Amino acid sequence: MTIGVSNEEVLDLSNKLFSSILLEQKKFMGLKGPDEGKENMNETILKEYEQDKGRGFFFNYVSSGRGHGPFTELVDGSIKYDLIGAIGPNLLGHSHPLYIKAHLEAATSDVMMCGNLLTHQEPQQLTKEILDSVKGSRLKHFWFSGSGSFANDTALKMLWQKKDPAHKLIAFQKAFAGRSIATQDITYNPDYRVGQPKSIDVDHVPHFDQNDPEGSLDKTLSALNELVKNNKDQYCAIMLELIQGEAGFVYGTKEYYEGVFKWAKENNLYIWVDEVQSFGRTTELFAFQMFGLDEYVDIVTVGKALQACGTLFTEELNPKPGLVAGTFNGSNAALNAGRKVVNYLREGNFYGEDGRMKYLETQFLTRLSSLAKTTCKGKIGYAGGVGSMISFEVGDSTKETTTKFIKKLYENGIISFMAGKDPVRVRFLLPTCLTDEHIDEIFKIIVKTADEVL
Ligand SMILES: Cc1ncc(COP(=O)(O)O)c(C=O)c1O
Repeated sequence: MTIGVSNEEVLDLSNKLFSSILLEQKKFMGLKGPDEGKENMNETILKEYEQDKGRGFFFNYVSSGRGHGPFTELVDGSIKYDLIGAIGPNLLGHSHPLYIKAHLEAATSDVMMCGNLLTHQEPQQLTKEILDSVKGSRLKHFWFSGSGSFANDTALKMLWQKKDPAHKLIAFQKAFAGRSIATQDITYNPDYRVGQPKSIDVDHVPHFDQNDPEGSLDKTLSALNELVKNNKDQYCAIMLELIQGEAGFVYGTKEYYEGVFKWAKENNLYIWVDEVQSFGRTTELFAFQMFGLDEYVDIVTVGKALQACGTLFTEELNPKPGLVAGTFNGSNAALNAGRKVVNYLREGNFYGEDGRMKYLETQFLTRLSSLAKTTCKGKIGYAGGVGSMISFEVGDSTKETTTKFIKKLYENGIISFMAGKDPVRVRFLLPTCLTDEHIDEIFKIIVKTADEVL
């Protein structure tokens, strides 16, 4: 169905523009240093921006808007591997044909942003695609939000209304849930809420312990039992990331989650899974599908790789009118891209044991583990993660050493970021478009960086 204006000329020009943009973007496909005379352009722009913003940036990075696949060009003309994808959204890589198409199609529409009151076809189609993808679960509805944090706030409001007056929440140690007033309390790290009054009542229990897999479920269950014993009928739900992102990709097993979820059901608690970071990136579209937990989930939040954010929920949790609203669903370009991305991920060979995500996971984890035993012994330690979410520890795994490594890696041509606290880990959110040649080059740079820093 046509969205926006269309005639033969518009279609023809749009197709030509699409090819032309793609051909131009494809010129940015290999590592490169800065152009002569432009070496200080990042610093110059950032200096002014930092003054206006009131805060410095971690990387000396300003995008030129050019790049292709895993490569991003900076304003100084240098080109680097982007292995963090803006902390998640750029799952398909830079200037992916679907992103370009989504933009061009949206340009024929009459507005930029789609609002909640007067809807368009883009949010309806994205909603349909995402609900189709969770058919094996009880999730029946989807509500858009402006950010992952707000999608979580929406989930909490729905749960509170349903379970009123049981407003306490159970979350997990090391969790990250966002930056809103509610989610800063769900987030475990107190450094992220300095000077903030406590706004919601959250208790944290231990998540899966990678150093004690066998004892993890018992530890979690005994903490949970203790909580409900002391606060009978006061909790509305249990909330968790199945793959803890900001913690450095800490995750349990199917048996662990089933044990926790069965306990939650027996204790009359809703199960809320935060997939803002994991959506699209594990070996199934949703991490809950990868673990085979479809029957348990009551409410699931998504964002990042979707190009939009929102809350999936069951019939039972559909709130009363008036509770959830808001101006925006998102830009028509982003909503259009979101539908294309989900469709592409579902139709393509991305998931399952032979899919792209498993391939990337195996490539990175095998190579990192091999380095840890050979050339980088004592320099690279733990390596773990799922699908396109990979993390590893360097040196003594402190913040100081890991930051030094990440900054040097950046200088050498790879953008990564850190995650976790005691231990701190190097984090990759990989784009799906990496070739074996890219991976070979990436590992040469990792070894060089380890030799230089550690
Ligand atoms: C698991 C998780 N939940 C929620 C959020 C918050 O999303 P946003 O930054 O879009 O508000 C994030 C962001 O990193 C996240 O990783």
